[in-house]
Amino acid sequence: MIHKFIKGSNPLKPTLLLLHGTGGDENDLLPIGKLIDGEANLLSVRGEVIENGMPRFFRRLAPGVFDEQDLMYRTSQLHDFIDKASKTYDFDRGDLMAIGYSNGANIAANMLLQIPFSLRGAILMHPMLPRKEGTVPELKQTQVLITAGNNDPIVPIQSTQALKKVLDDHGALVSLTWFNFGHKLSSEEIQFIIKWYNQSVIQHPKQFN
Ligand code: MLT
Repeated sequence: MIHKFIKGSNPLKPTLLLLHGTGGDENDLLPIGKLIDGEANLLSVRGEVIENGMPRFFRRLAPGVFDEQDLMYRTSQLHDFIDKASKTYDFDRGDLMAIGYSNGANIAANMLLQIPFSLRGAILMHPMLPRKEGTVPELKQTQVLITAGNNDPIVPIQSTQALKKVLDDHGALVSLTWFNFGHKLSSEEIQFIIKWYNQSVIQHPKQFN
């Protein structure tokens, strides 16, 4: 997969997996990744599905209606890519935090719902419930922050709440925070995310290898 890897200065920090929104690429979230943790490795990946010239991480049938078969296939592919990247770039595969926005948040959420022990945690910015069915692994001790806009024209409030519920029901430690914005990220939201990351991730040892 097309990607950028930027080696961090502190090997004790998690590696941040950065996943862009529809129409973005591997450059989009690098500035946010650096703001969240200026010492961590950054692995930023470009989605391989092209919709009207716009990169995405999986196919959709209509806005908000996902091709769930493709979603599952692409999630496994991304997971395999991360496994290989951890060897190529020599980072701790068990200490990976996903940071995704919109379509990137949706595939990160699905990775948690589909593949056991795939992520130490995730920051999901404006996600939806990515798929309605399927068994979900135990997510005990997985730290998840969901940020959402209460005027988001793309993400229905119920879908964000349904995602929180399924993560909660499988043992993840989920925090959901609403902002008075739409689908775009705000600086208030980024500041909140940085605070949460320092309090909930950096001050807690990782739970599995
Ligand atoms: C998706 O397709 O993943 C969501 O609708 C968000 C987006 O527009 O990318």
